[in-house]
Amino acid sequence: MEVKVFDSVTEASREALELFQSALNDGAKTFGLATGSTPEKLYELMRGSSIDFSQATSINLDEYYGLASDHPQSYNYYMHKQLFDAKPFAKNYLPDGTNENPQEERDRYNQIIADNPIDLQLLGIGENGHVGFNEPGSSFDSHTRLVDLTDSTIQANKRFFDSEADVPKQAYSMGLADIMSADQVILMAFGAKKAWAVNQMVNGPVTEDVPASILQKHDNVVVIVDREAAPKES
Ligand code: GLP
Repeated sequence: MEVKVFDSVTEASREALELFQSALNDGAKTFGLATGSTPEKLYELMRGSSIDFSQATSINLDEYYGLASDHPQSYNYYMHKQLFDAKPFAKNYLPDGTNENPQEERDRYNQIIADNPIDLQLLGIGENGHVGFNEPGSSFDSHTRLVDLTDSTIQANKRFFDSEADVPKQAYSMGLADIMSADQVILMAFGAKKAWAVNQMVNGPVTEDVPASILQKHDNVVVIVDREAAPKES
């Protein structure tokens, strides 16, 4: 794992933008994308840049179960506002939060990932070390499925909803095996609240208790952090 520490979120996000542009220049066609507050600056920089995704495909990590694509808190809505409306892709894929048949949705999304191998996967990280919505205890062999959110994640994400009761308790998420199948991974984390998870991911044991720790086994991971989220020297 290569860890890059920056003085500001903007500088860190500029680095991530450069890595996206390099990947495109090198022929990358499929980008795994993430939501949350962490990539917002990166998406803002992308919107204002000349980066061209018109020949590329995006596959998002996850979507809240029960939220339609036009729900303001859905990840589908987020992605359109943050990136897709300004930077169209040839094709955008997200899990369908309104599909009430988890087996069908799981199979549909896993086929999409099989048909579109991910060249570059962007990740944030949860305070408990989750990636996508792969909560602690998720199998390293997991693929897309319907997952239960932990209380820690519901608490962390309630700031985006009117009340805690409005936060969905389940989500469709790509699995850890899907994330590990990407050629390259960029994980971004900012702020002191992420320091424990980042340190465990980089310096801790590889354990399903800290899902992001599996990235120690990936041979092309760039971890982009600010000073507050930086891991302790190993
Ligand atoms: C959410 C998302 C993750 C995201 C994480 C951190 O639960 N499913 O993909 O990385 O939480 O979010 P934030 O960037 O807002 O801190």
